[in-house]
Amino acid sequence: ERLRPLIAGNWKMNGTSAALEQIARLKTLLGEAGNIDSDVLVCPPATLLERASQRAQGSALRIGGQDCHANPSGAHTGDVSASMLLDAGASHVIVGHSERRADHGETSETVRAKAAAALAAGLVPIICVGETEAERLAGTANQVVGEQVKFSLPETFGETPIIVAYEPVWAIGTGRTPTIDDIAQMHAHMRQLLVARFGKAGEAALLLYGGSVKPSNAEEILRTPNVNGALVGGASLLADDFFSIIVAA
Ligand code: G3H
Repeated sequence: ERLRPLIAGNWKMNGTSAALEQIARLKTLLGEAGNIDSDVLVCPPATLLERASQRAQGSALRIGGQDCHANPSGAHTGDVSASMLLDAGASHVIVGHSERRADHGETSETVRAKAAAALAAGLVPIICVGETEAERLAGTANQVVGEQVKFSLPETFGETPIIVAYEPVWAIGTGRTPTIDDIAQMHAHMRQLLVARFGKAGEAALLLYGGSVKPSNAEEILRTPNVNGALVGGASLLADDFFSIIVAA
């Protein structure tokens, strides 16, 4: 059974007001294309969230956050809560991106708390996992990703779909990707873990691949068994590039 793919763009720390034109352009492209058989999401920086979601109105394009705090409110200077993202128009939020794990010392336990906070607020979390290059070379990628999946996911998702993004750290922004066989192997491994733990919800989980996805490799990657979408960084910044990836799904 084919799961409806999710193509998600992560703008990271890129974009000021001018970047809203890319939202408008994407909306036009999606409108012209008509029947797109995927869900499409853009995660702009928090400063653009509300305006991006206003611009996206009237189209199938959804808007998401890039991170949220584990608490619903309080004395956490500089942080944004899940309900604030929802209020600004987000439907999803990325949690546990490797850049957050590396730059902000987030552990899988932190990530699990953030994912639970997202669920409690009514957002769909996109939970990121992925090994470093050293871990892959040491032959421990399966084990590392397995543990991240185990500890980064909340106990239950209720009716909310489970979304996990596999992003090998060494493939992010480098132009390098794993072989299709390696992607297939890791996604099958994650599927097995999720089915064992969540049953039917694990079968229905969306497993996104992320790391140097671009128009030229998207089709091959998105055809891979157990790859149910993509989390796209650099190639999501320009609407036309991102759209080429969307139509490849
Ligand atoms: O969240 C997106 C990923 O980190 C991938 O980034 O497509 O620029 O390699 P990239």
